[in-house]
Amino acid sequence: MNLRALTLLSLASLALALPELGGHDFRAPGPFDSRSPCPGLNALANHGYLPRDGKNIDYEMINQAAQDAYNFESGFYVDAVNMVFLFNISTTTRPNETFHLFDLARHDTIEADGSLTRNDIYFGDDVHFDATVWAPVARDLGLDHRDRPADRFVTVETAASATRNRYALAKHVNPQFNASMLQQQFEYGTTALYLLTLWDDDQNAAPKAWVKALMGEDRIPFQEGFTRPKVVKTSERIQNMTVAVRAAAGAGS
Ligand code: HEM
Ligand SMILES: *[C@@H]1O[C@H](CO)[C@@H](O)[C@H](O)[C@H]1NC(C)=O
Ligand SMILES: *[C@@H]1O[C@H](CO)[C@@H](O)[C@H](O)[C@H]1NC(C)=O
Ligand SMILES: *[C@@H]1O[C@H](CO)[C@@H](O)[C@H](O)[C@H]1NC(C)=O
Ligand SMILES: *[C@@H]1O[C@H](CO)[C@@H](O)[C@H](O)[C@H]1NC(C)=O
Repeated sequence: MNLRALTLLSLASLALALPELGGHDFRAPGPFDSRSPCPGLNALANHGYLPRDGKNIDYEMINQAAQDAYNFESGFYVDAVNMVFLFNISTTTRPNETFHLFDLARHDTIEADGSLTRNDIYFGDDVHFDATVWAPVARDLGLDHRDRPADRFVTVETAASATRNRYALAKHVNPQFNASMLQQQFEYGTTALYLLTLWDDDQNAAPKAWVKALMGEDRIPFQEGFTRPKVVKTSERIQNMTVAVRAAAGAGS
């Protein structure tokens, strides 16, 4: 190979690596890695913002990772993490300080029916991505119809209606659907969460390609152009987004 070709080749590989500098390339989990029903946390582990094995995770790690990757404000996830310790669901050797991602699969303590990408526990698995659960949601969101520029974004309205349809289907097919306090508390909140996580402030919507990567592959969509957002994500913004999604879905707030 001549020098010019070699230079071009190294430039090309540099360009490919650029958006994921700093050891934050995507690597799918191996058979001994711990993963959760949460696409947001799994993606952080798949990109090395959290330990890639998904084990012995503490609050500080999550607080830092959520700031570094998604620009959530410090403290945003303190209540969510505290649920793990309050409900004693950690299986680590320091169960009041750390947990494994798989510990979050505990149904009706922190995991609820009607998830968008995972099946209900009634069907045997509430933790792994389930293509048959996600497919109708993805179809309602129009994720694979992105030809015209105007079609490239998920709006609050489309997200709300896709989630409403998912809840109706889940209740219809699961004879033991548990409309617990927890489930009602999560209702539309996790939809607001993926929208806010992937929100493009210039477009006032979330790019479909980004939603597809995070929700469908537990992957941060760097290769689809996602960069760490400039505007910090606050608890006020998630409250507002949740109110907006619920209003669009015609649900009470
Ligand atoms: C770091 C940023 C985070 C993002 C972007 C995020 C996002 C999401 C989304 C979009 C879902 C809904 C998935 C679905 O319906 O299929 C979800 C579910 C879940 N998340 Fe997270 N999350 C984050 C952090 C956390 C933290 C800190 C915890 C607790 C320690 C947590 C625990 C869960 C659990 C248990 C579920 C399953 C709930 C259910 O059954 O539907 N998440 N998350
Ligand atoms: C969790 O464990 C603590 C300490 O052992 C206990 O006080 C608390 O009641 C437990 N919480 C639940 C929800 O079981
Ligand atoms: C966890 O428990 C140990 C021993 O029981 C205690 O020393 C430590 O302070 C506790 N940590 C938290 C965060 O409660
Ligand atoms: C529904 O969830 C609650 C917790 O929110 C739990 O106590 C109850 O056992 C669950 N019911 C069924 C039928 O699973
Ligand atoms: C949230 O909504 C309130 C009421 O509409 C509004 O005053 C406030 O500016 C919003 N905050 C953010 C961060 O968007």
